[in-house]
Amino acid sequence: MSLAVSTKIQKKYSKRTRKSRELYRESLLCFPGGISHNIRHFEPYPFYTKSAKGKNLLDVDGNKYTDYWMGHWALLIGHSHPVVASAVRNQANRGTLFGTVNKLSLDLAYAIKDAMPRAELIRYSSTGSEATMYAIRLARARTGRRVVAKIVGGWHGYNTNLLQSVNYPFELDEGLGLIQDEEQFVESIPFNDLERSLKILNTIRDDLACIIVEPVLGGAGCITPQRDYLHGLQEFATANDALFILDEIVTGFRLSFRGAAHEYKLEPDLFTLGKIVGGGLPIGVLCGDKDIMSLCNPVGKDKSEVVCYVGGGTFAANPLTMTAGLATLRYLKQNKSVIYPSIDKIGQRIRKGLEKVFSDSKIDVDITGVGSLFMTHFLNNNVRKISSALDVGLSNKDLLRKYHFALIAKHNIFFLPEKMGAISSSHTLKDAELLIDATQQIVQSRLFSRDE
Ligand SMILES: Cc1ncc(COP(=O)(O)O)c(C=O)c1O
Repeated sequence: MSLAVSTKIQKKYSKRTRKSRELYRESLLCFPGGISHNIRHFEPYPFYTKSAKGKNLLDVDGNKYTDYWMGHWALLIGHSHPVVASAVRNQANRGTLFGTVNKLSLDLAYAIKDAMPRAELIRYSSTGSEATMYAIRLARARTGRRVVAKIVGGWHGYNTNLLQSVNYPFELDEGLGLIQDEEQFVESIPFNDLERSLKILNTIRDDLACIIVEPVLGGAGCITPQRDYLHGLQEFATANDALFILDEIVTGFRLSFRGAAHEYKLEPDLFTLGKIVGGGLPIGVLCGDKDIMSLCNPVGKDKSEVVCYVGGGTFAANPLTMTAGLATLRYLKQNKSVIYPSIDKIGQRIRKGLEKVFSDSKIDVDITGVGSLFMTHFLNNNVRKISSALDVGLSNKDLLRKYHFALIAKHNIFFLPEKMGAISSSHTLKDAELLIDATQQIVQSRLFSRDE
């Protein structure tokens, strides 16, 4: 089976994305690799988006795509939702960055606390990477210990501490510029293997500050937790006076309005939010237990007394993000009884439909996911089922890339190649059928058998 993207499909893509190709050439002269976020590149070059509305992206050449990437899975109610767009427009006229405290930050905090009461105290930042960086700093401050346990393949953003065992092969460094001395204070444990995880954790228990985990591995390949895995980690952390931190940057307000902690009955000491809670604008949120969060309260203390510096940054709690987030959470709260069952139903239909298409054609896949998240994994002799990031690393990623590219080039359906898909409230069951049908056509084409 050829692994190269079919030249015929590439030609088709090149022909209809001429302006994008030109912009990509220019971008190479401005940005390393032509991009501003590593994962946004795909071969032969990414199309350039001109506008986005609802479930659609429109590129500079006039091609319209049904989007399943949805702004890094952040846009649960679609691109430029009228309620959010109008609130942001109005707020822009009143100021975009006050640089002072404002009531909007309080309104959004109440909306978060209403959905997730474990957010006793909250600190905003501008990205999820900052929120997770602060979370582990706070855990080290609270416990006086140094070691952070993360999941093999777990993704918590580009903060230096957690940039370890992210990409397959996991034992290799994640790139230049990372200092090995720091790495000794981060330990990686295998997702969904409680026995091995506890064995590793036991070796570091005396210096363990926290365990940080995504309830559903997102970047690593849309992997759901097996029964009792997350509870086992939580129990271990509690029994050993370490903190249990849930990174809900993808799952918060997506798995349900109350997030994964509620769905899986978990009680994290700290948790992080991002993406959806910013309503399409930049955000990270650190939330949790008030005693722990109070360690970063600098008010009335001099330098020797400030326990833990958790910043926030120039753009933290800016009125534009607060407004977009608030409009989104209010809309979700008002419509949650319709939105969540609907996106979950579409997710279920897609998972089932894709499974059938592939199994009818004797192509071995595991379609993972939960609710409105899903991903196709092509299996081989090395891996028969997907339950960890290692399984994803061993699966046939080249075939996945080809499949996603064929969807883009031939069917105007956009997945960021190799990444999981996310459904928004602007998708419909008809979109699910179109995706299943497109997959059927791709399977029937020669893509999966030999080069075209
Ligand atoms: C689970 C998780 N945590 C943290 C982050 C980092 O967020 P940001 O890209 O806003 O820095 C991401 C981003 O994809 C994520 O998926």
